[in-house]
Amino acid sequence: MRKLHWRSNAFSSLCLLLSGSFCSATYESFSKGDTDKQILDYLVDPRRYDYRVRPNEQTLINVSVVLLSLSSPDESSLEYEVEFLLHQVWYDPRLTYNDRGHYRYLNGMKHLHRIWTPDTYFITHGDFKEPLMPIHLALQVSPDGKVFHTQRREVTLNCEGNLGIFPFDNPKCPFSLESISHENSEVQFEWSTLTPGLQDATSLRKHNAYLVKNETGLCDERHTWRGNYSCLTVLLVFTRDKSYYYTAVYVPGTLLVTSSFLSFWLDINAVPARVMIGVTAMLNFCTTTNSFRSTLPVVSDLTAMNLWDGICMFFIYASLLEFIAVNYLYRNKESPLYNTTQDSLGKCPSQDRYRRRGKSDKIEPQARSSEMEMISPSSTDGVSEQDKEISSTKSRFTCLRISKSLNSYPVLAVKIDKVSKLLFPVLFFIFAFGYFINYAVVQTAEEENWELT
Ligand SMILES: *[C@@H]1O[C@H](CO)[C@@H](O)[C@H](O)[C@H]1NC(C)=O
Ligand SMILES: *[C@@H]1O[C@H](CO)[C@@H](O)[C@H](O)[C@H]1NC(C)=O
Ligand SMILES: *[C@@H]1O[C@H](CO)[C@@H](O)[C@H](O)[C@H]1NC(C)=O
Ligand SMILES: *[C@@H]1O[C@H](CO)[C@@H](O)[C@H](O)[C@H]1NC(C)=O
Repeated sequence: MRKLHWRSNAFSSLCLLLSGSFCSATYESFSKGDTDKQILDYLVDPRRYDYRVRPNEQTLINVSVVLLSLSSPDESSLEYEVEFLLHQVWYDPRLTYNDRGHYRYLNGMKHLHRIWTPDTYFITHGDFKEPLMPIHLALQVSPDGKVFHTQRREVTLNCEGNLGIFPFDNPKCPFSLESISHENSEVQFEWSTLTPGLQDATSLRKHNAYLVKNETGLCDERHTWRGNYSCLTVLLVFTRDKSYYYTAVYVPGTLLVTSSFLSFWLDINAVPARVMIGVTAMLNFCTTTNSFRSTLPVVSDLTAMNLWDGICMFFIYASLLEFIAVNYLYRNKESPLYNTTQDSLGKCPSQDRYRRRGKSDKIEPQARSSEMEMISPSSTDGVSEQDKEISSTKSRFTCLRISKSLNSYPVLAVKIDKVSKLLFPVLFFIFAFGYFINYAVVQTAEEENWELT
């Protein structure tokens, strides 16, 4: 070691004896045989180099970030794992050397703690996956005193998404870095202009993370709560895999809703078929929704998702209710407004029916049915033949009147079915159209105007 020192040229030795500041800008000369460790040992010798002192009054640090991998644990989470290299470059005039072009740079990995490095602090909403270990650091010193400091970090960012329009939102992941103890006037971070501030590694891997936009900039009061500390910020904007949501939510939902509309095309009397269609659609929809919901963040403001689920459920339930109502009307052949019986086609009860009932009731064939008894409640077994005649005629008369005046509920039921055939799909189409225009186009476009936050 000592030998090396004497091999340095006479000027620098003299300089070392005189004063450190005087020779800080001069090149230390070394012979070709010196290893980079020997040179560095000399350069950072505590007698000539104090690693606690900044290289100059205001140290300018050029920063750039290289993205190595982007991933998200699952499709609908707001957590993104970002792995990146942070390059910091600055000049330290005390580290200039001249080894006659032997080394392009000195590898200062082992001297890391004996060289001044900026106290860069990350402001993130999230955690680093592992603490900074020596293995994640590299340091190189160029002959002109340029120091390249590289660290590899992996951070799990908690991003901001507008869950109101989930899954059409674009989660935004900002993070910043600033000097923890040096004010602007002492240490100044700047985005590198020689290379893009933020760049992709050629090996960039993306898993479930779709970067749509990136920005680099300077912090303002939204990013840091402290004044006058130099601070840089990065904004990564991701988007969600829309095709996943279409295949997992929207297409199955649409299929189930429209299949519940098939019920309108079936006969009113096809009770098992129509009930089965309605109930199956509803159960399937619940299962699909629940299984999907279990993957979502448990928050209440999933407005777009809730709206979709709610409206789909409403249509399925409404089509089931429609069938129940139609079927009820269809079977309800007696009009409560009229005190008489009536057949589905508005015909009066046949004689056979009276006869049958009469037998079972052990009354004469012409005996009145229960309906007739309603007309004349007083008519019991002891009633006179005349009374029977009167009530019977009365009943027939009323019956005829009704079949003429009112084509009644069964027809209404058929009409409702006919209208529903058209009305339900049209309403659902209008809803779906409005939904996608609003959430996928209008509100997403408004979101895009987000500035660096
Ligand atoms: C930092 O970037 C500026 C230009 O933006 C450049 O003049 C300067 O030399 C760079 N410093 C280092 C250490 O690379
Ligand atoms: C960042 O955005 C610029 C354009 O704004 C683009 O050229 C660059 O590729 C983007 N970088 C990454 C890592 O996506
Ligand atoms: C920031 O610096 C300016 C002048 O450079 C000074 O007036 C101001 O008080 C400083 N702010 C803080 C928070 O230190
Ligand atoms: C039905 O019959 C009852 C008693 O016979 C009578 O009071 C009532 O007005 C009738 N209703 C209609 C709508 O004719």
